[in-house]
Amino acid sequence: MLTMRPPFTCLTLLLANWPFSAGSSQLQAQHPLEYQDSSHSSSPLISLHKALVEHPSITGSETNVGHFLAEHLKSKNFTVRSQNVDGDRHNVLAYVGDSAKTRVLVTSHIDTVPPYWPYERRGDELWGRGTVDAKGSVAAQIIAVESLIGDGEIGEGDVALLFVVGEETGGPGMRDANDLGLSWEAVIFGEPTELKLARGHKGGLGFNVTARGKAGHSGYPDQGKSAIDMLVQALAALQRIQLPWSEEYGNTTLNIGKIGGGVAANVIPDFAFATVAVRVAAGTPESVLELIKTAVLEASPEVELSFTYGIGPVPVDYDVPGFETAVMSYGTDIPRLKGDHKRYLYGPGSILVAHSDHEHLKIGELEQAVGGYRRLIMDCLRRLVVTTS
Ligand SMILES: *[C@@H]1O[C@H](CO)[C@@H](O)[C@H](O)[C@H]1NC(C)=O
Ligand SMILES: *[C@@H]1O[C@H](CO)[C@@H](O)[C@H](O)[C@H]1NC(C)=O
Ligand SMILES: *[C@@H]1O[C@H](CO)[C@@H](O)[C@H](O)[C@H]1NC(C)=O
Repeated sequence: MLTMRPPFTCLTLLLANWPFSAGSSQLQAQHPLEYQDSSHSSSPLISLHKALVEHPSITGSETNVGHFLAEHLKSKNFTVRSQNVDGDRHNVLAYVGDSAKTRVLVTSHIDTVPPYWPYERRGDELWGRGTVDAKGSVAAQIIAVESLIGDGEIGEGDVALLFVVGEETGGPGMRDANDLGLSWEAVIFGEPTELKLARGHKGGLGFNVTARGKAGHSGYPDQGKSAIDMLVQALAALQRIQLPWSEEYGNTTLNIGKIGGGVAANVIPDFAFATVAVRVAAGTPESVLELIKTAVLEASPEVELSFTYGIGPVPVDYDVPGFETAVMSYGTDIPRLKGDHKRYLYGPGSILVAHSDHEHLKIGELEQAVGGYRRLIMDCLRRLVVTTS
């Protein structure tokens, strides 16, 4: 699966210096340049990844990509079960033969953040919404499992694939996966980790600050009460809080992601709000919540705080040799899947370009991820045999 390629600049040089008379097959035979060949774009991995990205699936509209995926997996001789999740979108579970009960689960999500960016191949890079988060993982996972079956390494009862909806907004897909009535010895989650095996990821705490004042003419401030002034005091207090940190997860960080309020420059605003997300690196979400509440209410006693979710840092397993490891600063579906399975987090691409207008993935990284998933799956199956015997 893995073939080393020279860096692009080097490659360009080689091509430029090659005599025009040389046939392209000769060129491929002598240099590891297959990946630049147009036939490469029809490799099962690249074309599956392309097809996934070309089915737009912004959270809430995963129906089409779900149908595509179910049909694709059926055509590869998997048994496929679709699980309806609120509305007409569905999770897709695929396994070999008759047994949905498997020892290992390989899973990722099929929704993306907005807006949609079309698929585009630029040299050795694949651009577009979801190329990294998380359709790179989905494609690599499927090819990894397919190839292990093809190699006779795994069979019925070993591995299932689960692709869920709604990971980007609250995780209803993974929440409902708990109703499948299945359990596993190990679950491998696919998200962009730059091919590193995650040691864990930060937790999160979400809340809104709402300020209600009294409207009036801006020339007579004493006649009203500015909701925006109240909000500004509260937000300034948030920026001054010393949030907890840890050696492993780093700093707890806070993002005031959205603010709103007011009607015009000459009107005292009677309403203002802010939506805030905290990435929790230490302690419990309750302890962070208390810090926030105390600081905000001291600075601006009349604002309302409404907390939407809270979770502490999420450690995961990383006891598979041969991987570089790292800690992630984003949230995943991992804590939503109940059970005492071992948990792994791994995938191609960088979170630093996910959710952006320049989301893209290197072909080489996508290909390496297939090898990475194969190793993780086989290591889980082998090692778990030992521990359960
Ligand atoms: C499809 O799966 C069934 C059941 O696992 C198996 O018996 C059959 O050989 C498979 N067919 C192909 C073409 O792989
Ligand atoms: C927080 O604010 C967001 C956006 O302004 C809103 O969609 C959400 O319902 C609010 N949540 C709570 C609990 O107030
Ligand atoms: C954590 O915050 C401190 C102080 O704000 C800063 O000096 C340090 O570089 C931060 N650490 C990380 C890992 O970002």
